[in-house]
Amino acid sequence: MGSDQGASDMTDHAPALRRSRIAGLGSHVPPWVVKNDDLKQWMDTSDEWIRERTGIVERRWVERDAGVGGSDLALSASKKALADAGLEAKDIQMVVYATLSPDVHFPGSGVFLQRKLGVPVGAAILDIRQQCTGFIYGLSIADQFIKTGMYDRVLVVGAEVHSTGLDLSTTGRDVSVLFGDGAGAAVLVPAEDERRCLLSTHLHADGANAEDLWAEFPASRHHPHVPVAMTGALEGRQFPRMKGKQVFKHAVTRLPEAIFEAMARNGATLADLKMLIPHQANLRINEFVAKMMGIPEDKVWNNIQRFGNTTAASIPIALDECRSAGHIGPGDLVCLAAFGAGFTWGSALLRL
Ligand code: UT7
Repeated sequence: MGSDQGASDMTDHAPALRRSRIAGLGSHVPPWVVKNDDLKQWMDTSDEWIRERTGIVERRWVERDAGVGGSDLALSASKKALADAGLEAKDIQMVVYATLSPDVHFPGSGVFLQRKLGVPVGAAILDIRQQCTGFIYGLSIADQFIKTGMYDRVLVVGAEVHSTGLDLSTTGRDVSVLFGDGAGAAVLVPAEDERRCLLSTHLHADGANAEDLWAEFPASRHHPHVPVAMTGALEGRQFPRMKGKQVFKHAVTRLPEAIFEAMARNGATLADLKMLIPHQANLRINEFVAKMMGIPEDKVWNNIQRFGNTTAASIPIALDECRSAGHIGPGDLVCLAAFGAGFTWGSALLRL
């Protein structure tokens, strides 16, 4: 695959477009801490297995039967991102909402967030379904709208509530121990100069392995979409299922490709990089990728130990946390990279 394929940056022939930058960040996770040992009440598993294979120690889940959807977590994250940007909900012209766990089957979660947050009636609200790569796709979409001059203030959100849709029996343990709930948000505005801007985004997908990580129901190809009368006969097909080793193998190939693509596109080297913030699917994947690419441990931000895999929310939560902890600051070169269901993968290079 050519290094420019899927790149959303300017071509040599295009007129110079303005760039975008992240003006504000925010994140939110629910208060219930579920430790590895807590999972033993539902399934045959162990703290040792989970830590060894994934690095995860605990994750946050929403309270059971409290009616909390992803848009509720997104609301808290978005309020923080707006405050950080010095803006209000009324200033937002577009929301790009990434999730694989929407509040309801339809409409998309973005309109629920719009209503709760107070984003003006008539704003553009777009839901996207690119799973673990959702936030990078979302950033890229926001970037395009800002570059063309169509919008000046775009809210990009990644939010997930996985915990209400997991198979907590021993049958589902390979997947269920991985996932956590949470949300992260970023406010994008036009960049004043190249010292603080989104440099490029790189988006990819390959549907050949779509069934290697998926949840089959609800499904428009079945009548009805959720065959309620037959839930017992669904054989777990309403829960996320994964061919873990297959996904792992593709992840450790595609992530370095996407990172190198972003660096090459901008003439940057790994030495220029202040921090790599990869999607948090498995600590072993990120360690493997860093080692293979020769990126030192202290240049890779991992927080899967405390939050598990929060899919579309993982990168904005990590980015917000890394910046709040003072490890990255204005002007630092930061690379975001993700791989997940679809398969989809991608990267973004930015000067914070
Ligand atoms: O965010 C989207 C992208 N996702 C990823 O990138 C995830 C990629 N895949 C992975 O991270 C790993 O494949 C997993 C962590 C999900 C699984 O690790 P694995 O080394 O591939 O384990 P496995 O599924 O092959 O299972 C190995 C053994 C099996 O037992 P036997 O058949 O060897 O006796 C499983 O039944 O481990 C058993 N096992 C568990 N044991 C305790 C699977 N899950 C568990 C568990 N607790 N939770």
